[in-house]
Amino acid sequence: MNDPTDRNAAPELFTWEFATDPYPAYAWLREHSPVHRTRLPSGVEAWLVTRYVDARQALADQRLSKNPAHHDEPAHAKGKTGIPGERKAELMTHLLNIDPPDHTRLRRLVSKAFTPRRVAEFAPRVQELTDRLIDSFAQKGEADLIHEFAFPLPIYAICDMLGVPREDQDDFRDWAGMMIRHGGGPRGGVARSVKKMRGYLAELIHRKREEPGDDLISGLIKASDHGEHLTENEAAAMAFILLFAGFETTVNLIGNGVYALLRNPGQRERLQASLALGESELLATGVEELLRYDGPVELATWRFATEPLTVGGQRIAAGDPVLVVLAAADRDPERFDAPDTLDLSRRDNQHLGYGHGIHYCLGAPLARLEGQTALGTLLRRMPDLRLAGDPADLRWRGGLIMRGLRTLPVEFTPQTN
Ligand code: HEM
Repeated sequence: MNDPTDRNAAPELFTWEFATDPYPAYAWLREHSPVHRTRLPSGVEAWLVTRYVDARQALADQRLSKNPAHHDEPAHAKGKTGIPGERKAELMTHLLNIDPPDHTRLRRLVSKAFTPRRVAEFAPRVQELTDRLIDSFAQKGEADLIHEFAFPLPIYAICDMLGVPREDQDDFRDWAGMMIRHGGGPRGGVARSVKKMRGYLAELIHRKREEPGDDLISGLIKASDHGEHLTENEAAAMAFILLFAGFETTVNLIGNGVYALLRNPGQRERLQASLALGESELLATGVEELLRYDGPVELATWRFATEPLTVGGQRIAAGDPVLVVLAAADRDPERFDAPDTLDLSRRDNQHLGYGHGIHYCLGAPLARLEGQTALGTLLRRMPDLRLAGDPADLRWRGGLIMRGLRTLPVEFTPQTN
């Protein structure tokens, strides 16, 4: 792979080899071209920001807008670039695509409904879901942890939280699966799934307005701020972004997390020993470290320069897209000691896995709850969990923003209930 000391060996990005292990290429970029102009596979030219200090600055810089209307290349409308605003679907007008003052207003409203108290109250339900899913494969002695565990857990959890009735949750599971093209569904299928989800959410919001419950959608409808309410479209877009932002990320936290633990047996044994003593501290610092070491969000979402600015000494023109590479920043040796080493007890771990600034992950408390419950329970119940097969055969999903495995086959001693 790339030698980070070789100035001339510019890394090839977005290849299959890069998707498997992007970290050597990121080390090269941090060293030689920390704010790097590149052509993405979609054809769009963008700046990649890879050093921790620059990444933090860029994430908090209000001159970098989240609104795709600031992109200088309307030509992107000609093709599929992955830039969200291309399609003017109403579900796309959500927190990650808007700037203050709209962002401030919507975030304040949703924060009222999505409180740490609500998340804490949800802990027994996440535990119950986790146990039920593990029960479903425990007797087999083998499982694909992505399909059978990491994938269903967050979708059921967020559906419960939103107030989607249990009998409808399998539909959501199917739509969400199609939307991340789980198993490589056709693109038309993705559009159909988004449409079905939109129709369902509109109807659910309507129903919750008539008969509110103790759920997040009812809370969103009720939330008001100086007399301001969410419109039905805004409420639907909010429910959609909560689902979308909270789903594949958590799948990957569990998948990448288990994979990292299985590849670092010393760390995994430490964690298992601590869990056996009933301790929770190493699990808590460990999940943060797994987010830093191989987090679910490789690149933060799109940002666009509203005026000329300088990041890390590099001039960026108005209208240019900027992508902050969280995975590169979180392995920056200027910020983290031994950044390529997994250290579950790492202190001073201000990683950027949840972003930074006004778009900092709204769902971080829920993600932490799900990550800690899923990994803790799995290691407790399957102490001899191991990879089935050769790690070289594992495949990573190829998307630009997220980093996650397609499958994670494991083996363990079968359990009788
Ligand atoms: C381990 C799991 C998760 C990770 C690593 C993660 C990561 C992130 C990151 C990096 C951002 C900022 C993106 C940017 O600035 O471009 C973000 C924003 C966001 N996340 Fe998460 N997330 C996770 C789980 C969740 C969950 C469970 C939810 C909700 C149910 C959620 C809801 C959101 C929302 C709504 C935003 C947008 C906030 C805003 O723009 O103000 N996330 N997340």
